[in-house]
Amino acid sequence: MNPSFPSLMQTQCTWSCHHEMLGALRSKSSSLFASSRHLLRQFAAGSGSRRPPSFAAMSTAATEKEASPNQKESAGKPLQVAKRLEKFKTTIFTQMSMLAIKHGAINLGQGFPNFDGPEFVKEAAIQAIRDGKNQYARGYGIPDLNSAIAARFKKDSGLVVDPETEVTVTSGCTEAIAATILGLINPGDEVILFAPFYDSYEATLSMAGADIKCITLRPPDFAVPINELRSAISKKTRAILMNTPHNPTGKMFTREELNEIASLCIENDVLVFSDEVYDKLAFEMDHISMASLPGMYDRTVTLNSLGKTFSLTGWKIGWAIAPPHLTWGVRQAHSFLTFATNTPGQWAAAAALRAPDSYYVELRRDYATKKQILVEGLKEAGFKVFPSSGTYFVVVDHTPFGLENDIAFCEFLIKEVGVVAIPTSVFYLNPEEGKNIVRFTFCKDEGTLRSAVERMKAKLKRT
Ligand SMILES: Cc1ncc(COP(=O)(O)O)c(C=O)c1O
Repeated sequence: MNPSFPSLMQTQCTWSCHHEMLGALRSKSSSLFASSRHLLRQFAAGSGSRRPPSFAAMSTAATEKEASPNQKESAGKPLQVAKRLEKFKTTIFTQMSMLAIKHGAINLGQGFPNFDGPEFVKEAAIQAIRDGKNQYARGYGIPDLNSAIAARFKKDSGLVVDPETEVTVTSGCTEAIAATILGLINPGDEVILFAPFYDSYEATLSMAGADIKCITLRPPDFAVPINELRSAISKKTRAILMNTPHNPTGKMFTREELNEIASLCIENDVLVFSDEVYDKLAFEMDHISMASLPGMYDRTVTLNSLGKTFSLTGWKIGWAIAPPHLTWGVRQAHSFLTFATNTPGQWAAAAALRAPDSYYVELRRDYATKKQILVEGLKEAGFKVFPSSGTYFVVVDHTPFGLENDIAFCEFLIKEVGVVAIPTSVFYLNPEEGKNIVRFTFCKDEGTLRSAVERMKAKLKRT
């Protein structure tokens, strides 16, 4: 066993609180990644034999110095995981993180801000705790937050929804996704994803026993290949799970694309689960909610959360908006996943959502500046930068620098340049499709972005 592995797994424990950090180095990825020797050495042994590494290797609680009695007891016993999750091996982000720490790299990989959320929201949470709002909340959300979500949705999309029967508060968008899938998808139902996709989609669909079909959005514009989508829809298709503005590409679905998807859904009686967590980070065009298109509200679950908009990703307050007949399924699953979301956080979220419009204008302005620093810097450093219209991500083609794939490039970038990016092959069913693309985030303060750019300009050489 590689002696450094326990410490890698400790890093995983620290980092795995963020879903992106759980982005799996899937076993199916191993052929692509096999050439990236360092990152895969430990993984390859396990994935080649399809046997999980020993528990001792995966243990998160032990220090390198001393294993606890329980860990000693467990040493040598194979890790156990249900079949539906077997293929979601983790490690790539762990290893990137480990390398990042070791090499003092600037982290433009993780999709969360390195600055804090607004004072008025933090004060509202503190006040709620002081006011004794600390017991279980109503399962589907405190009335004040349900109303604030409905009011915000009306402002943004023009749709009037009933806070009592059409809004469900969840623990982050991640739980809203899980409650929607587990509450509305039967085993064997087909669900269509657009690749690259946010990593929790595949894992949660797998937990629900869904059959996943994937439509790939290709650079440079990541446009929806509507004919491929049309051919992918079958009698078994229950839903399309989509995300606009889109992580990792920054693509925003155009009105034309949304209309085409909508007509296919109406024609074939297909639902849409629309993840809109980056709706307030829309730079080049206005965000359009799928639910607001004619005929779509009745078949759409809109998923969102507080984290990105208010730079409070650790709070995990999210929601699902859907007509009552779909809300029923979402709430049934939510009741048994978490039942209720943390109470003081909900009170603060209600205050946050009542922020004046100027808050959102300023947020966009700040992020536009950050985006410009990063995008211009990446171009000057020699990357081919793909246009990003929304989110706080931008994807680039790394091939001018001559590395064989995205994993190898990211490893090189950390070790030799001192910057972390995310390899995108982990966001595809077929990792080959992402091997030329890496993702950077600009949700960092301007100084951090400038330092990262300077490092890349100084050290990256085109081949
Ligand atoms: C597309 C997308 N959906 C959902 C989430 C998760 O949101 P939350 O932190 O509210 O669970 C993320 C977080 O990175 C995301 O990028």
